[in-house]
Order: sequence, then structure tokens, then C-alpha cells
Amino acid sequence: MPKTIIVANRLPVKIQENNNEFNLMPSEGGLATGLGSVYKTDNNIWIGWPGQVIADERKDEVAGKLKDLSLVPVYLTQEDVLEFYEGFSNDVLWPVFHYYASTYTTYKPSNWDYYQTVNQKFADVILQHCEPGDTIWIHDYQLLLLPALIRKQRPDISIGFFLHIPFPSHEMYRLIPWRAELLRGMLGADLIGFHTFDDVRHFLSSVSRILPTPVSSNVITCGERSIVVESFPMGIDEQKYAGLTRLPEVIEHADQIREIYKNNRLILSIDRLDYSKGILQRLQALELLLEEHPEYVGQLTLYMVVVPSRDTVPQYMHLHDQIDKKVGNINAKYRTIDWTPVSYYYRSLSIETLSALYSAADVCLVNPMRDGMNLVSKEYVASRTNNDGVLVLSEMAGASRELIDAILVNPNNVIQVKDAIIEALNMPLEEQQRRMKQMRQLVAKFNVNHWVQIFMERLNEVKLLQRSMQTR
Ligand code: G6P
Repeated sequence: MPKTIIVANRLPVKIQENNNEFNLMPSEGGLATGLGSVYKTDNNIWIGWPGQVIADERKDEVAGKLKDLSLVPVYLTQEDVLEFYEGFSNDVLWPVFHYYASTYTTYKPSNWDYYQTVNQKFADVILQHCEPGDTIWIHDYQLLLLPALIRKQRPDISIGFFLHIPFPSHEMYRLIPWRAELLRGMLGADLIGFHTFDDVRHFLSSVSRILPTPVSSNVITCGERSIVVESFPMGIDEQKYAGLTRLPEVIEHADQIREIYKNNRLILSIDRLDYSKGILQRLQALELLLEEHPEYVGQLTLYMVVVPSRDTVPQYMHLHDQIDKKVGNINAKYRTIDWTPVSYYYRSLSIETLSALYSAADVCLVNPMRDGMNLVSKEYVASRTNNDGVLVLSEMAGASRELIDAILVNPNNVIQVKDAIIEALNMPLEEQQRRMKQMRQLVAKFNVNHWVQIFMERLNEVKLLQRSMQTR
């Protein structure tokens, strides 16, 4: 029976070693939940990195543990992690795609060499597992070369590719020395998906200018093959988030949080540690608010959760220090004996704790400088089962195209973000409910199952069309 192979840099679980014992922990990010419905059914599998360098003598043990969960590991060496993951993926592609390229970005040829080598490692593992008739769905910027590597060996196989981060404008993208090779890599897929129509536009513009390859509407012609490019905004498991809010322990925890902050309005933010998330800008906006509006001193709390991420990459370490310092400054300046403006947590929290926070928060502040989609904004909406609460959302997040009933802000405009927080805190209940209801309906309808379904259906259609053209 033909199967679907999901491929992403990370597996949905990561290996953690404790007293020489390997334990499996869920990986960060929404992809695992989203694709759970796919890889856990039939004979489907998920191929990816287990998040740790594994010694040769223990690889069989790891593979055995993962096999029971339909997961197949790709092992990376320490050098791969340094050069492919920290180097090319997170020090070149991530900043350029989020518009953070600067004249000082170093494009190290050795990073590029490892990027190619690791993409080939993934290809080798896939080729060992794929059979005629299978469908391969590759995810994200760490694996841009992979579609073409598979296509070379299996010309007829069905390949979908999805980019979870923004695709930058041609002016930004063309800075990358290996811009043509990366595009050719992606064009090995039959269907290429992005979160927004702007990403589609930018990608098509780079393809037609850099390669150059003929582009007509959203179809790219590459020799005999036609590649379709479309936007598929990713959703979340809305029922899961709504359901969590009804669990007794979550209700109890949310009540406790409300009790602790009963004299305060609670503003929540949750992000991975990343400069693209606008964490420092958010703190600036809060500082400005407290400075200009002393009447809010003692009245509001920013509950800020930052989930540790990539903290071995220098830019991330630096950001971590800057956040610590800024939070320290604000708290030192404004705190009183029984009130602290910023409750800052640098750690991962369980999904139940997140749910309690989503339930308890009056406002959720999501202000990335640039974000492919941003699932936190959708999780907050799905958790507001009473239809109250206000979402303040950056225009630069893909989610802002759908969640138009949020208070939308330009995250670079600190004054606007500050004003949006005040507007959110003072929004009448009826208006909160009107906006939240609209957003909840949208998040419920365009959920993650819908996303998987429309992508897979489209991939099948594209493949059928291609085959019928070839037999003509
Ligand atoms: C973003 C990326 C994912 C990545 C995740 C966590 O959501 O789009 O591809 O897996 O961040 O980052 P990490 O570097 O820890 O895998």
C-alpha cells in the first residue's frame, strides 16, 4: 500500500539523555501536532533528526525506540549541527528570509558544503524507505535542496514542499550566493506551498528573475515538468485547544493565575527565543506605556514566556542577554513592594499550563517583526471559549491575513503598539466578543486537518495532471 513520508529537519520528538538512558520528549513547534494525523496512520512515516548527536554504538537503540512511533532518524554529526543547522540554516537562511540580512552576514562556503551534505543524508534515508506510488511531503528551509535530490533518483515520485517561514522579496533573496542552487532544489517538488500569497509572489519573482525559468500565473515550467505554487495558510488543532480549557486541572490553574493577578490586567506573550519575534520591541512598548501613563503602574502585568531555542547560535545568546537586561531595567524602575510589571519565564511550559495562561489572559500580544504564520495567535483565539479577550497582532505575521479582527499593528511602530495595548485593555466586552467570535469561527473552520487535506488533495491533482500531460 502506498504511503506518505513526512520529512522535516526535526522529528516530532527529540531524544534526551538522562543517566545514560534515552527518553523521548515532544519537539517544540506546531508541526508535530499538525501532522500527527498523517504519520500516525496506515504505514506512513516521518523522517527527521532526533535533536541529538547519537554515538554510533547507540544508533540501533535509538532507531528501535523511534520505529514503534513510525519515526525514522537521520543522524547528524557535531559538525553537521554546527555548519548545517546553526550555520547555514539558522545563520544564513533564517535571517535572510526574515529580512535580517545585513552587510555583515558572512556566507561561509563551508556552511554551504555541509548544507548540501546534510540534504543528501536526508535524501539517502528517504530513498531507503520510499517505494513507487509513495508521496513525499518535505517541510521547511533546512531542506530546500531535498526535492531535487529525490527527483533525480525517482523522476516519477510525488513530492510536495512546504515553507513555514516567509519567502523574502527578490531584492533580499538575491543576496544569497547560492540563490540559484536553492531555487533549483525546491523546483524538484510538484507542488510548493507557502502560508501567504505574498510568499508565493516573492518566490515566483525570484524564480523568473534568477534562474530564469518561465512562470505563468502560479505555474513554473521546468523542461517537461510543470510545478504548481500556491498558498495554504496553516491552521491549528482548534478542538484540542478548546478542549484543554475544559480540563479540571486547566480550569483550576487558570483560576489560580487570575487570583494571583486579581488586581492586574494580564497581558500574555509566548514565543521561542528569536530576534524575529519582536521581544525587545514589546518591552520598549511596555516601558513607553508605563512612562507616559503612570495610571497603569500597578494595574497591568506582562506575563512573558520565552521558550529557549537555538541558544548556541551567537545572535540568540546575545538576544537572551539583552532581554534579561531590559526586563531587569523595567522591573527595577517600576516595581513596587507588591507588584512587578514583567513576569518573565525563560523555559518551555506544558501545553496544559499554556492553556491555563491563554484562558487567564485579558490580552495576548503577538508582535513579531516577521513571521511565516504564527500559531500562538491562533492558539489564543481557540482557547477563548467565552469569546472574550483581545488579540494584538503584528501585520508582519502570516496570521494577520486571516485574523483581521485582531488589533493589527506595525511592530516597528512602538507608539502604535503601546496605543494598541491601551485600546485592548479598554475594549468594551461586546466588541471583544464580536471580534473573538469571528476569529474563533475562522480558526475552527480552517484548522490543521483542513490544511493537510487541501495540500494533499492539491498534490494529487497536480500529479495526475502532470501524468496525463506526459502520456499525451
Ligand atoms: C520554526 C521553524 C521550524 C523549526 C522551529 C523550531 O518554527 O519554521 O522549522 O523547527 O522553528 O526551531 P529549531 O531550530 O529548534 O528546530
